[in-house]
Amino acid sequence: MRVLGIETSCDETGIAIYDDQQGLLSHVLYSQIPLHADYGGVVPELASRDHIRKTIPLIKQALKEAGCHAADIDGVAYTAGPGLAGALLVGAAIGRSLAMAWNKPALAVHHMEGHLLAPMLEERSPEFPFLALLVSGGHTQLVAVEGIGRYELLGESIDDAAGEAFDKTAKLMGLDYPGGPLLAKLATQGDAKKYKFPRPMTDRPGLDFSFSGLKTSAANVIAKEGNSTQVQADIAASFQQAVVDTLVIKCERALQQTGYKRLVIAGGVSANTSLREQLAVLLTRYGGEVFYPRKEFCTDNGAMIALAGYFRLAAGQQQDLTIGVTPRWPMQDLPVV
Ligand code: KG4
Ligand code: ZN
Repeated sequence: MRVLGIETSCDETGIAIYDDQQGLLSHVLYSQIPLHADYGGVVPELASRDHIRKTIPLIKQALKEAGCHAADIDGVAYTAGPGLAGALLVGAAIGRSLAMAWNKPALAVHHMEGHLLAPMLEERSPEFPFLALLVSGGHTQLVAVEGIGRYELLGESIDDAAGEAFDKTAKLMGLDYPGGPLLAKLATQGDAKKYKFPRPMTDRPGLDFSFSGLKTSAANVIAKEGNSTQVQADIAASFQQAVVDTLVIKCERALQQTGYKRLVIAGGVSANTSLREQLAVLLTRYGGEVFYPRKEFCTDNGAMIALAGYFRLAAGQQQDLTIGVTPRWPMQDLPVV
């Protein structure tokens, strides 16, 4: 079975073709980051307009790179939520319509399920059950995963997501949007012990997160010590360590609670090297293993949507003819495969 995947939920147009026998045949990505950089964040209307311009040319490119024609596609999967309504509608309208024109089934994919299953694009793929730490620009969640669609939400952020905290703190330091990767790079030059940032909500039981207070700690340091390159690097390192420590503490609790030995990290922040290294140390202590996608599949991409769509289409699930999106969509509402 060969599935075309379309991702347009935010500021990346990602298209891919996945084949269940041969794996990923092609994947192309167009990032709108330069378009939004001047505004310091994603401007939804500009995002939608750019997806309209890019989606069809990228689908043609992906088909060409995969060496296949429309007739070789057995199903179309597109992100239907969560995300920006206008941006999602572009992918949903194009994906649903193409499937109808080609007389093939369509599948509305949950963006976070795409992230969660992305490590399965790799050779070293996790088996069920596993614990998943989803850390993106919009979500921070700990999920017990027993199978596809069998998700138990163990904890989540009550305010800012981890990626959002990275981006907001980076913005305070004057870094470009999205600041997460730039802050992580600066952190390699800094002293993580220089400033004492809180490890929010680790002093009480439970698996929820709160990251909105961390940027205030960064703002206080800047107000007191200025914004020199060295201060920036030390804030970056101290901030990153606070986020990583917090995530590691909560993952350890979740491992104890579930008894699982496999941890999947996915979503944009799972590209963070320090987070990967420190979670690997934790899992080694528990005699377990960490799984994550290659870096280009940590952030938004079409490959993860094609894969998630494939699993559901192969099980016979499909979307009716309605072109619809679900900007707010709890992952627990998904049907079991
Ligand atoms: O999954 P993603 O591409 O989009 C959403 O679904 O939100 O995640 C983007 C987020 C941004 O907040 C970005 O700053 C963050 O992931 N990010 C990172 C790194 N790479 C991307 N944060 C920390 N360290 C990184 N290396
Ligand atoms: Zn994402």
